[in-house]
Amino acid sequence: MVAYADFHRRSIEDRDAFWSEQAKLVEWETQPQQICDYSNPPFAKWFVGGKTNLCHNAVDRHLKDRADQAALIFVSTETNQEHTYSFRDLHAEVQRMAAILKDLGVTKGDRVLIYMPMIAEAAFAMLACARLGAIHSVVFGGFASHSLATRIEDASPKVIISADAGSRGGKGVPYKPLLDEAIKLSAHKPANVIMVDRKLAAFTPVAGRDVDYATERAKHMDTVVPCEWVESTHPSYTLYTSGTTGKPKGVQRDTGGYTVALASSIPHIYQGKPGGTFFCTSDIGWVVGHSYIIYGPLIGGMATIMYEGLPIRPDGGIWWSLVEKYKVNVMFSAPTAIRVLKKQDPALLTKYDLSSLQALFLAGEPLDEPTAKWISEGLNGKAIIDNYWQTETGWPILTICNGVEKAPSKFGSPGKAVYGYNVKLVDDQTGEELTGANQKGVLTIEGPLPPGNLQTIWGDDKRFVSTYWNTVPNKLVYSTFDWAVRDEDGYFFILGRTDDVINVAGHRLGTREIEESISSHPNIAEVAVVGVADQLKGQVAMAFAIAKDTSGLTDDAARKVLEAEVMKVVDSQLGAVARPSRVIFVTSLPKTRSGKLLRRAIQAVCEKRDPGDLTTIDDPTALQQIKDQIV
Ligand code: PRX
Repeated sequence: MVAYADFHRRSIEDRDAFWSEQAKLVEWETQPQQICDYSNPPFAKWFVGGKTNLCHNAVDRHLKDRADQAALIFVSTETNQEHTYSFRDLHAEVQRMAAILKDLGVTKGDRVLIYMPMIAEAAFAMLACARLGAIHSVVFGGFASHSLATRIEDASPKVIISADAGSRGGKGVPYKPLLDEAIKLSAHKPANVIMVDRKLAAFTPVAGRDVDYATERAKHMDTVVPCEWVESTHPSYTLYTSGTTGKPKGVQRDTGGYTVALASSIPHIYQGKPGGTFFCTSDIGWVVGHSYIIYGPLIGGMATIMYEGLPIRPDGGIWWSLVEKYKVNVMFSAPTAIRVLKKQDPALLTKYDLSSLQALFLAGEPLDEPTAKWISEGLNGKAIIDNYWQTETGWPILTICNGVEKAPSKFGSPGKAVYGYNVKLVDDQTGEELTGANQKGVLTIEGPLPPGNLQTIWGDDKRFVSTYWNTVPNKLVYSTFDWAVRDEDGYFFILGRTDDVINVAGHRLGTREIEESISSHPNIAEVAVVGVADQLKGQVAMAFAIAKDTSGLTDDAARKVLEAEVMKVVDSQLGAVARPSRVIFVTSLPKTRSGKLLRRAIQAVCEKRDPGDLTTIDDPTALQQIKDQIV
């Protein structure tokens, strides 16, 4: 075994040699001519001159050795369906989907938006796009029409792939009305919509635009659609994520760098092996789903479980029963899910044979010590491994790379810098690097960002540079917008965001987007949304609003009515995922004399902490009002 410190050092100091070795984990149609072109910082180009295909590496390349092995295991406790697709089956299904897209005129570089629940067809859709060199943009099924419309407009897809409905707790959740409304709202109109009809919610197809997946699929049972070899730098997908403005950013990923990064992460980070089974409980609408439900495990020759349903239905043992049944080796989830399970009977953790399971990886939000301890003990001492990363990076920035060298985890810490990442803590005011132990700074990454990280923001190179690279004074470094400290052993501890992004149950949300949505209610004059610590969800959004007409808001009942109306607006525009837990009415909001909202002070008051220096506050009674209302 190589010492991890050496492995990491080599990835930075002898970057090209290191990554050219990792690139051997991937099949190339044309070998790269140059490993990394960083002649135009901060834009990095990886494996320049190389040609490959993401779908080839996830599916076709495995046909020679493992055609009959399980590739995609679809389990729905919502519709009680369970189906295993071998690599051969998956290859056939992906070609059928690709043939439908081709019939609709989709070619290399075209965008295809995917708005689907966790069903096997969503995986076929993503892989079919990659096969054709089309750029997919998956939108989380929990988002509603306004969120969807902004993404349709920005991605300008030729085709949208969707379904009649998702399902939650056994109840159908219609998608089609939200999609139709979003297309109406968007200035860009897709030429076609492919509809997967699960028969969960009746709908009327739009003539000339909507095509039925089952009908089209039947025409292409044996159609062969070869992989389109694309340049390593060709975009594979965009995925929208929240920032500090109301407009979501389309994180753009390349093809070659992403394939290499994932191929390398499977053995080195997740210790997955070809023939094994990976079970990631995220959703394809999030980055974790892209990297570790779909592409990563398949590239690594592993079977991947795609699970539609709740973690506690039919009971809190459902995930562990799947671990037993499918001999899962690697499991990946989020701390919130574990906190949900914590409320169930702990005996469910030991009811099933979990001997196949090597480790449980958790990511997306801080892993609190009680939760880590509970699950570690409940699973009889199985390794619980925290990993810290972002939509932008596509794979972990910090963790313990046990596949390189076994090392202990520390509770509360995601671990050390992952190979390829030149992580630096810097002072936010001076940009000075903080090298001492336990000094708090902003977690930054020195360029070039490693393979697999975002290339740019879709259609907006300027925003890419100004958002991520120009925030630290006197330095061109990538900011994660997270505060952190590093201890004397090199373990990092994440201390929360430096910006207005909040994390609700592992879902990343922008407070500005929620504020904009709330402000569209005719009786709202002004609003501030903050993330407040929550025992179950990590954080919840709380809104403090000023009503335009307060004459009706004389009692609690009246306020509750307006609160419910505001929540409905957010539900219908952004989706229930963004709904604030409370909307509290005030007559003024705490601001600086120059008019800047003091969100941090509001948050501190809500969390019963000291709001800090308030010398710049314009109207101190505003904060007092909030204090009075939240007790
Ligand atoms: O604040 C950090 C938090 O989630 C943000 C990224 O969220 P997202 O783009 O949705 O990507 C999630 C990919 C796993 C980060 O900036 N975050 C993510 N993982 C952790 C975390 N905070 C603490 N510990 C983690 N392991």
